[in-house]
Amino acid sequence: MNLIILGAPGAGKGTQGALLAERKGLRQISTGDLLRDAVRRGTALGRKAQSYMNAGELVPDAIILDLAREVIADTDQGFILDGFPRTIVQAEALDPMLAELERPLDGVVVLDVPDDVLVKRISGRRSCPECKAVFNVYFDPPAREGVCDHCGAQLTHRPDDEPETVRRRLEVYRAQTEPLIAYYERSGTPVHYVDGQRGVDAVADAIDDVLEPEPA
Ligand code: AP5
Repeated sequence: MNLIILGAPGAGKGTQGALLAERKGLRQISTGDLLRDAVRRGTALGRKAQSYMNAGELVPDAIILDLAREVIADTDQGFILDGFPRTIVQAEALDPMLAELERPLDGVVVLDVPDDVLVKRISGRRSCPECKAVFNVYFDPPAREGVCDHCGAQLTHRPDDEPETVRRRLEVYRAQTEPLIAYYERSGTPVHYVDGQRGVDAVADAIDDVLEPEPA
């Protein structure tokens, strides 16, 4: 199964993408995580991407497309694209890429969450730079404040999670990424809408239901 998970910053793409990957044996491909890793390691890609990310802007399409092509081609299992594509240009480039690799898309999951909930989730997010686990001081706090439950590393607050940058990320999402929903509707790819404002488990169950509905 090859899926895209779409939604605004803080909608739960990373959280649900990880759960879905585990349940269905898929690979979660998060361009945000790949970029943050590159920034942390100080690679050429990371140096190019960092200023865009910290300003809440999108990294240029050409950079992202090279990265995505490399990772998708390297994956022989089904995948969940989390945070990619993010512009019409990226979506238009993804279509021939998947056709060439003979990896057709099975669907797009859209997580729908109101802005006030997004802002609260993002302000409470704490991430583990080592094992990538994500916590939330309001909704899913770690057992020991500031410490990852899984690997004991110090949790961090993402630099792009500052309020002003979050506002910009939301604007960029509305202008450049939300139009992808209509793009996939037009393309005939199944688009599944999920109410993402409920708890993590309820959202995961709702995703399972839309992907594998009970027979009538
Ligand atoms: P990226 O990392 O993709 O960030 P994003 O899309 O802004 O999404 P987030 O990671 O903020 O949120 P999420 O939806 O994954 O939510 P999460 O599960 O963490 O991209 C970052 C930057 O990289 C971009 O701004 C851009 O610069 C660049 N970039 C990346 N891809 C690119 C591309 N394709 N093209 C160009 N540039 C690109 O959840 C958020 C919080 O809420 C967590 O604390 C979590 O614990 C909590 N939470 C989740 N679900 C629930 C729930 N149901 N109930 C309560 N709390 C919940």
